[in-house]
Amino acid sequence: MKVDHLVEPDRVHRTVYTDQAIFDAEMERIFERAWVYCGHASQVKAPGDYHAVTIGRQPMLMVRQPDGSIQVLYNRCPHRGVQVVGNQSGNAGSALVCSYHAWSFHLDGRVRAIPLAQGYENTRMTRDNPDCSMKRAARVDSYRGFVFASLAAEGPSLPEFLGEAKVAFDDMCDRSPEGEVEVVPWCHRVIQQSNWKFFMENQLDALHPSVTHQSTGIAASRVERRLKAEGGTPPLYYHYLSAFASSFAQWDSVQTLNFPRGHGILKAYMGLRPQDADTKAYEALLERAYGKEKMEEYLSRSIHHVLVYPYLSVQSPLQQLRCLRPIAPDRTLSEIWHFRLKGAPEAIYRRSLWYFNLVNSPATMINADDLENWTRAQWGLQSNGLDWVSFHRWYGDDQEEDGVVASRHGTSEAVMRNQFRAWTGYMAQ
Ligand code: FES
Repeated sequence: MKVDHLVEPDRVHRTVYTDQAIFDAEMERIFERAWVYCGHASQVKAPGDYHAVTIGRQPMLMVRQPDGSIQVLYNRCPHRGVQVVGNQSGNAGSALVCSYHAWSFHLDGRVRAIPLAQGYENTRMTRDNPDCSMKRAARVDSYRGFVFASLAAEGPSLPEFLGEAKVAFDDMCDRSPEGEVEVVPWCHRVIQQSNWKFFMENQLDALHPSVTHQSTGIAASRVERRLKAEGGTPPLYYHYLSAFASSFAQWDSVQTLNFPRGHGILKAYMGLRPQDADTKAYEALLERAYGKEKMEEYLSRSIHHVLVYPYLSVQSPLQQLRCLRPIAPDRTLSEIWHFRLKGAPEAIYRRSLWYFNLVNSPATMINADDLENWTRAQWGLQSNGLDWVSFHRWYGDDQEEDGVVASRHGTSEAVMRNQFRAWTGYMAQ
């Protein structure tokens, strides 16, 4: 599909957010080719455990195998097409069995038994035909326990695809004294009534928090100040909210790094090393595991968000991960997960849980503000008001070296410009 006329270095045409044909092409050329996050290995611990996941428009199953490996299958019966598994997750036992006519499959998708098989004799659908087996994703790989699949046989390897964005998973796991995280198996799911690209742009948009989240941030700041005035120490979770109302100058001083495949990093974080007893106990465990120098390196990484384009937002210092599953040009499902640091004290996990509930959950005052902006953006772009969406902020001011665009200003729209550069590359394939 030709999209060159829709994307210019400093602006894009509104139809990239609204047009059904463009959305269909995105699913085919981006989501059904790139490496897409399926889930964490700890979601499927035992042989037969499965987790259903959508890749582009394809219903897939991540399944733990008897030998410990993980396979990703199309959730589609080779007989008459019924989805073999109807639940989001569970354990299939030793075989996947279709509920319609009881064809059964090994956990890696190979056909195991076809009931009343004599009825297929002398037809094409005998068990030696590979079409009798459930189809597998072309490629499956994982990085530090995070499992990805690509539906394309050709293309970059997972490490090549992730590139610099690997730090999202390194930063999360390195904060565990055991070097691993474990999924907390409760996922918030939200359907935003807007295009998936609004979410990806918003994650590294440092211009919006002081406006969009002003009321929440200011209210939390007032409580923090009052608690301090009364001689107390405000709990850290007030800081999670008050940080959103940081000044423009503070947000502008934060740098974004933007990588060739559209991935990006918003640097800096909101002071996550308080010197309370819980933090000291945690740091002692890390120091024992890695030594002081490594511990300092791991706890000092300058990260707010890492984006794996086109669908993942990871806040590694607080073990948060949000994954997009686009449904239509104006509908996007986001899965909101968080993780435990293996071997870390419970108090450190509670910080992650607070952030999960206070900032990322469907009930939070933060995410709700964003959702309203994106819905109104969708409505605005569906109108005939104007044709172009502006990404001019600090255009011409970015520094680029070896394909990596570093913004000089945190509020630069370099993020969006870079994402659309990657988008155009995918769409031209
Ligand atoms: Fe699955 Fe018939 S559709 S066994």
